[in-house]
Amino acid sequence: ADARIAVVPGDGIGREVTPAAVRVLDALAPDFAFVEADAGDAVLEATGDPLPEETVETVEGADATLFGAAGESAADVILPLRAAVGSYANVRPARAYPGVDALRPETDLVFVRENTEGVYAGIESEIAPGVTTLTRVVTEAASRRIAEFGFDYAERHGYDVTVAHKANVMRTTDGQFLDAVRAVADERGADHEEALMDALAMHLALSPEAYGVVVCPNLAGDVLSDLAAGLVGGLGLLPSANVGSDNALFEPVHGTAPDIAGEGVANPVAAILSAAMLLEHLDYDDEATRVRAAVEGVLEDGPRTPDLGGDATTEDVTTAVVDRLD
Ligand code: NAI
Ligand code: MG
Repeated sequence: ADARIAVVPGDGIGREVTPAAVRVLDALAPDFAFVEADAGDAVLEATGDPLPEETVETVEGADATLFGAAGESAADVILPLRAAVGSYANVRPARAYPGVDALRPETDLVFVRENTEGVYAGIESEIAPGVTTLTRVVTEAASRRIAEFGFDYAERHGYDVTVAHKANVMRTTDGQFLDAVRAVADERGADHEEALMDALAMHLALSPEAYGVVVCPNLAGDVLSDLAAGLVGGLGLLPSANVGSDNALFEPVHGTAPDIAGEGVANPVAAILSAAMLLEHLDYDDEATRVRAAVEGVLEDGPRTPDLGGDATTEDVTTAVVDRLD
């Protein structure tokens, strides 16, 4: 096989949309070996552990992982899995598609979020009763690494780069983040814009078309990417990537959707677009482009699942995507 892909469907609609994404990858014919592994509520109930050691080993040993969703045990599953691939960049495209109702149909954004430090470094304490503190960690190395990643991504996909920050208030930490982005831009002779993250939230809501790749510290990326998700109409459309230096994990942004799980009507598009990101990560650029074109065609012409106002099943949509691959 050309690549070993770990497949971790998890719970709920993860078990419905992940096989759909695998079906699309299979139809494209790259020689992938798929290795399935368990995680989530079901395996927790069966074994007492939501993330068996063999799953972690399968993910560590793979070239890339396709993950579905985990239920109540999500935090105990997805955080260690992201760590297992050494993920430092969280990539979240938010794009509106013709045929889908969106608040801002002109949105085509990609958030590149630093995913190892900032306020999520986990250094919190209660220093006295009723008094709590948090330490924000920003290193030059991690800031440069995410900047390099953001400029590479923007160059590869033809986007402009904006860096979100609040260096006017967090002078030392975001100052360092901003300096690192400036230094990387300088070394590459690349253009970039700088935006205060609070003002950027407003500009993204009002005129998303003015932006492309948005490079963000951890917390800003978490919040701004959710804001952008709201602009494009539906959790069932949003893919994401967690990228490390030699491994990566791809997953839809949505969860297990207990309200529709088991009915066979989950929208597989987010999982299929996550598979397209996986293809691109493994340098199957043509295949990734074919998947995106097929998805765009299906979103425009149907069939569509109920979340997009249609009455098609997961299988109908997946078949339609596969049929449009060439
Ligand atoms: P959710 O994303 O599962 O569902 C939110 C709403 O969006 C529901 O109405 C659902 O039906 C709809 N939806 C989501 N994906 C859809 C799709 N592909 N097609 C059609 N409709 C879709 O978020 P919620 O309800 O907050 O969480 C449910 C469970 O999922 C919880 O146990 C939570 O812990 C877990 N979760 C796991 C995540 C992960 O594994 N990465 C991420 C978010 C939630
Ligand atoms: Mg979030």
